[in-house]
Amino acid sequence: MESLSDAILSIVRADLVYVRLKLSDEGEAHEVARTSGPRDKTPPAGAIGAALAPWLVSSPASPITIADPLGAGSLRIFILPLDDGNARGEVCIGSRRAEFPTEMDQLICRVVCNEAAVAIRAARLVEELRRLRDDLEIQVQERTAKLIQVNHTLRAEVEERKRAERELKDSLDQVRVLSSHLQSAREEERARIAREIHDELGQSLTALKMDLAWLRRGVKRGSAAVSSDRLLEKIDSMNEIVDTTIGTVQRIATELRPAVLDTLGLVSALEWHARDFQKRTGIRCEFISNVDSVDLDQGRMMAVFRIFQESLTNVWRHAKATRVRARLNRRGRILTLTIQDDGVGIGEADITGTESLGLMGMRERALLLGGDVRIVGAPKRGTKVTLRLPIPP
Ligand SMILES: Nc1ncnc2c1ncn2[C@@H]1O[C@H](COP(=O)(O)OP(=O)(O)O)[C@@H](O)[C@H]1O
Ligand SMILES: [Mg+2]
Repeated sequence: MESLSDAILSIVRADLVYVRLKLSDEGEAHEVARTSGPRDKTPPAGAIGAALAPWLVSSPASPITIADPLGAGSLRIFILPLDDGNARGEVCIGSRRAEFPTEMDQLICRVVCNEAAVAIRAARLVEELRRLRDDLEIQVQERTAKLIQVNHTLRAEVEERKRAERELKDSLDQVRVLSSHLQSAREEERARIAREIHDELGQSLTALKMDLAWLRRGVKRGSAAVSSDRLLEKIDSMNEIVDTTIGTVQRIATELRPAVLDTLGLVSALEWHARDFQKRTGIRCEFISNVDSVDLDQGRMMAVFRIFQESLTNVWRHAKATRVRARLNRRGRILTLTIQDDGVGIGEADITGTESLGLMGMRERALLLGGDVRIVGAPKRGTKVTLRLPIPP
């Protein structure tokens, strides 16, 4: 606008050039005023605009003479519209010369104003393009940030899924190892019981059979051949063999299925087993329960009992312990059994190792019933096995 004013001022030798431009209907008008006088004496564009206001509004088609707003005398002015399609404004050109404006002056001013309108439009377009490009850049940035975020989330999800798959595979592997172990353990157990029945019961019964044969011979020959003292002695020794055999039968039966569970219930069965363990191993075994009895189904009772048995067997086989404390606690619907020894302490590798089939068996038993088994060990501070089992209502 300034250069437009300067150009018109010098080309047509005008005394006043006033340009007003409104960039939008709501926006404020921009004004520039130039005069032929010294620049520092030029009144503010606003004041000149106010003086010209009536003519700017009516915008006469042909040049007119008005009172000079810059001083005394009169001024010939003509007004040209400035229109670039969007912005609208006016250019008012004035001169003190009476012959102003000639045809040539008007033509030149029109051409210059048209050029200016084109330039303004071009500048506006450039501005518009710049804004669009900035918007686009911001959008691209936002979109990129969003994509990066989505990418992160997806990657995390993929990782999570992979981890879950790995865990599933691991636990399937464990189950496989465990079930084959259970299978062979069952076979081993059968072989052991068969051996025991064969060796112990077979021996005892054979001994009884021999004793019976001896008795038969003695009785047949008559009391003269064998004294009644010898007979009584024999009967006593046979009695002893029968007692031992009954003991053996009971032991084997208990191992197969602890009868104490059925007759005494879980709490007393655990107590009995702790006492029995102490008697057989010499390791002090204390058992304390905060309840006298727990109402549990057969499966759960057996699981708790077997986990207790396996833990104590481990203490005896591995811990080098001198004492064991076992606690049975019932809080609400949760049953907790802890077995703490004062031995060497189980190593981390043994706790998680796939070779630890006894421990895995304990965990699996608990897991099947909705509970869990935790094992912690500290070197020289012993091992603690904790079973947590929910009691169904
Ligand atoms: N109370 C314990 N104290 C020290 N080490 C233990 C204890 N219980 C288990 N362990 C260790 O953990 C291993 C795995 O136990 P387990 O799965 O029961 O297998 P197993 O008794 O057949 O060796 C044992 O070989 C032993 O090294
Ligand atoms: Mg074991």
